[in-house]
Parts: sequence; structure tokens; C-alpha cells
Amino acid sequence: MITPAGSQVVHARAPGKINVFLKVGAVMDDGYHDLATAFQAVSLSEDVRAYPADDFSVQFTGSIDTSGLAVDGSNLAIKAARLLARKTGFRGGVHLEIEKHVPIAGGMGGGSADAAATLLACDALWGTAASKDELLELGAQLGADVPFAFTGGTAIGTGRGDQLSPALAKGKFQWVLAIADFGMSTPAVYKELDRHRTRHAQDIFPAQRQPTVDANVLQALRAGDAVMLAESLYNDLQAPALHLAPGLGKVLQLGEENGALAGILSGSGPTVAFLVADADSALELQVALSAARLRVVRATGPVRGARLIHD
Ligand code: C5P
Repeated sequence: MITPAGSQVVHARAPGKINVFLKVGAVMDDGYHDLATAFQAVSLSEDVRAYPADDFSVQFTGSIDTSGLAVDGSNLAIKAARLLARKTGFRGGVHLEIEKHVPIAGGMGGGSADAAATLLACDALWGTAASKDELLELGAQLGADVPFAFTGGTAIGTGRGDQLSPALAKGKFQWVLAIADFGMSTPAVYKELDRHRTRHAQDIFPAQRQPTVDANVLQALRAGDAVMLAESLYNDLQAPALHLAPGLGKVLQLGEENGALAGILSGSGPTVAFLVADADSALELQVALSAARLRVVRATGPVRGARLIHD
């Protein structure tokens, strides 16, 4: 590890997310699906510390088991650092220490948060002075959810999910997250959705051809109304994910029987996010899920996007 005592370090933080609404349209020419989604950044975040180095390396710590993560060039944070170096002509490297709190392969955008925080940290460490738009553009090349990890808050995503417009939001929403002891592959869940649509000869309905976010979701976010938001939670990836991992159905049921206003699969899963009305219901739900031997974490949203932390 190339971190001599007293060496310069830059610290950046980026949040995980929950898609409170996700409608999947047709497959586009690039193989991605046309989306209409509403993102909410939540208070589980990734902390990236970037140290000067001659080459590129990464090491993980945090509140979750990070032992299975790739630390070679296939890691998204390493890809992010290399991409920024290539685009700016920077000739050195970086050593990254990433403290992870967002579930891995959980549908909450943890890898995307790593990438966003890495771009921000490396830009500051290297003095490459990229603009916010340039970083967003590089982020979009790394993954569809990376731009949102930059902007944070509450936003509507279209196209691949990377074309963002801010959404008005009031107050804080409280979430209880049931974290699975396995990960799910996002491409596999999208493929299962496609298979289902083909199998049932289900032409893409006009509404799906150009998906849009329901007005009720926008109104609930604007009003800070958890009951209304709970009624409007929607995710087209939930059915295909439940087909691949049927046990998640029981988790959803358990949550809804124990104080949640509603539950939804987060992104492509397998994390299940339960919206609760207040701290008492959150606690009741946390106890019930823990008793069923599920790993449970609480979070609030929205929170701000990627930023530098001055320790
Ligand atoms: O961009 P990202 O790496 O997060 O996407 C992972 C995978 O999810 C893609 O390779 C694609 O299979 C699927 N995806 C999609 N349509 C989107 C976003 C993701 O089909 N809008």
C-alpha cells in the first residue's frame, strides 16, 4: 500500500439510492432499456479516500462483507480512476481505500457510488479540475446510475436512467432495508423481464414504449407524504427478480405484515426497501425482520450527492 504517513489524501462520499418508481420500456439500440425512474438518494454511503500512487489499486473496508469484491482492473472504481486519467492526460495513478456501507450487488447503486466518489476524489487529488458536467459525462460512461450518485437528492431519470432532471421533494422519508445474503446480477434481471415479455408475446404497450413517472409519485415526493408515496411505489424489475429469487416474496410479505406502509424491491434487487411512517414503525419492523434472521439496516432520504469531505 502506497500510503506513507503524512501523505496527501482526498476523501469523497457518495450515497446509495432507492428507485421509488421504475418503469422499463423497450430495449434500445445500445442494448439498454428505456427507463422512467424516480431516484431517492439515501443515508447509506460509500467513503472513498484517494492517495497519490504511481499505479492504480483499491482496497475495501466497511460495515459489510467486502471479501468477494474484485480489486483488479474490472472494479468500477479502478475503471473510474483510469477513465479520468485517460480523459485528462494525467500520467500518475491512485491508491483507493473504499469504506463500503451500501449492500453489494443489492440494487442500491453501491458500485455506482464508488465510481462517482472516485471521480470526485481523483479530480481533486490530481488537480485535473474537471467541470461537474464533465464528471457527469464520464460517470454516464461507467454506468447508468453513476450520474445520480453525483447529483443525489431526488431526481427523475430517463433514457438509460442517466438523463436526470431534479424533482421537488419535501421532508425526509424513512426506510427499513432487508439485505439479502446473496447478490443479483442486474443484466440477468433485465433479461428475465425480456424473456417474460417475449414468452407472453407481450408487445410493449404504448405506455411502456415511452415510459413516464406517474404523477402521484411526483406529488407524494413534493408533499413529503409517505402514505401517498407508499401507494405509488412501483418497480417493473420486481416480478422478474422474484421469479429468479422467489424467497424475496416472503420478505415483502413479512414487512407488510409488520408495520411497513409498503415494500419494494430496490432497483434490480435483492435488497427490499420498506417505507415506514415513523420511528416507532421502523423499530417494530426492524425487530420482526431481525427475528426472521434477515440483516436489517435503516436509512433516510433524500440526502445530498457526491461531495468532498474535509476531515
Ligand atoms: O449501466 P450499468 O452497468 O449499471 O447497467 C448494468 C446492466 O443493466 C446493463 O448491462 C444492462 O444489461 C442493464 N440495464 C438495462 N437498461 C438500463 C440500465 C441497465 O438494460 N436502462
